Amino acid sequence: MLERAAPRERFTFRQIAMRRSFADDVRDGLEKSPKELQPWYFYDAIGSALFTAITELPEYTITRAETEILRRNSAAIARALRSPERVIELGSGDGRKTGMLLDALIARQPRITFVPIDVDGGVLESTARDFLARFPTLRVDAVCGDYREVSSVITPGLPTVVLFLGSSIGNSDPEAAVAMLRDIRRVLGQGDSLFLGADLQKPKEIVEAAYNDSLGVTAAFNLNLLARINRELGGQFDLSKFAHRAFLNEQKSRIEMHLVSRERQSAAIDDLRVQVHLERSETIHTENSYKYAESDLEMLARESGFAIEESWVDSTSRFADVLMVAR
Ligand code: SAH
Ligand code: TRP
Repeated sequence: MLERAAPRERFTFRQIAMRRSFADDVRDGLEKSPKELQPWYFYDAIGSALFTAITELPEYTITRAETEILRRNSAAIARALRSPERVIELGSGDGRKTGMLLDALIARQPRITFVPIDVDGGVLESTARDFLARFPTLRVDAVCGDYREVSSVITPGLPTVVLFLGSSIGNSDPEAAVAMLRDIRRVLGQGDSLFLGADLQKPKEIVEAAYNDSLGVTAAFNLNLLARINRELGGQFDLSKFAHRAFLNEQKSRIEMHLVSRERQSAAIDDLRVQVHLERSETIHTENSYKYAESDLEMLARESGFAIEESWVDSTSRFADVLMVAR
C-alpha cells in the first residue's frame, strides 16, 4: 500500500548559499572590458514570468520542439530511464515539460523523490506545490540555489536520473559544460543517467528570430537585468537608453545576447557606490546560447564520463533530447 501523505509531509525546501552575491557579481562584471552580467540573475519573479512568456512565442522553437519529443515518446523515454527512485532537475522553472515525464515515470514506479533545483525560489516553490498536488505519491525535496553546485547536494546511493531540459546546457561555455557534467558524473553511480535537451544548429534566420521576437518579450527579459539592479541595488539605469541585441556568432556557434548603450552615459549604482560609464554602442554581454551538432553531444558525453544510449529529435530536427548513461 502506498501511503498518500498530505502534501506538506512530502515536501522539503532548502536554500543553499550562493558562492557570490548579486552585488559582487554586478560590480565585477561591469568593471570588466567588455562588460558582462551573469545570466542566472535574469530569474527573479519578473524574469521567470517573462521566460514562461518566451516559451509561448511563435519564434521560440525550443520549448515546443522539446514538448513534442516528450509527448510523442514519453513511454519509451520512461522505459529507457529504468525506473529511477530519484529524479533531480537542474533549472526546473515552471516544470511544464517535467510534469509529462514524471507522469510517465510514476506510471511505472510511483515512489519517486523529485529534487528540483532552481535559483528562483518563487518559481521553485510554485512548481513544487503544483506537483505535490498533482502526484499524490511524489516526494519533493526542493533546492534553491545554483545548479552548478549540484554535486554538493546529491547524496549518492539511490538510482537516479538527472534532467537538464530546454538547452540550459547551452548557456554555459563548452569547457564549463564539460566541467559541470563531470562533476555530476562523480556523484552518480554506474547506470544512473542524465537526460539532456540541446538545441541543434539551424539556419541563421530561424535561430536569430527566436531571440528577437516581434512582441519584444526577449528584449524585456534581457532589460529586466538592469531593472533588477535598479530594484535591488539602488541602480539608476534609464532602461530607455539601452537596446536589446541578439545575434548568431557563427564561429562559436552561439547566440549572444547583449544590452547596447544607445548613447554615451553614466549611471550610478547607489548600494555599490559605483558609477558605470558606457560609450555610445558599448555593450554589456548578458548571455550565450550555444547551438549543437549531434557530434558535439557525443563529445560532451564522452568527455564527461557518459555514453549516449538513445536520442530523440523533434519532427523539424531542431532539437534533441539525449539519454546519457554513466559508464
Ligand atoms: N527547464 C525549464 C526552464 C528553463 S529556463 C524549461 O526547459 O523550460 C532556465 C531555468 O533555470 C530558470 O527557471 C532559472 O531560474 C534556472 N536557472 C538558470 N541558471 C541557473 C543556475 N545557475 N542555477 C540554478 N538555476 C538556474
Ligand atoms: N536555455 C534556453 C535558450 O538558450 C533558455 C534561455 C535562457 C533563453 N536565456 C534565454 C531564451 C534568453 C531566450 C532568451 O534558449
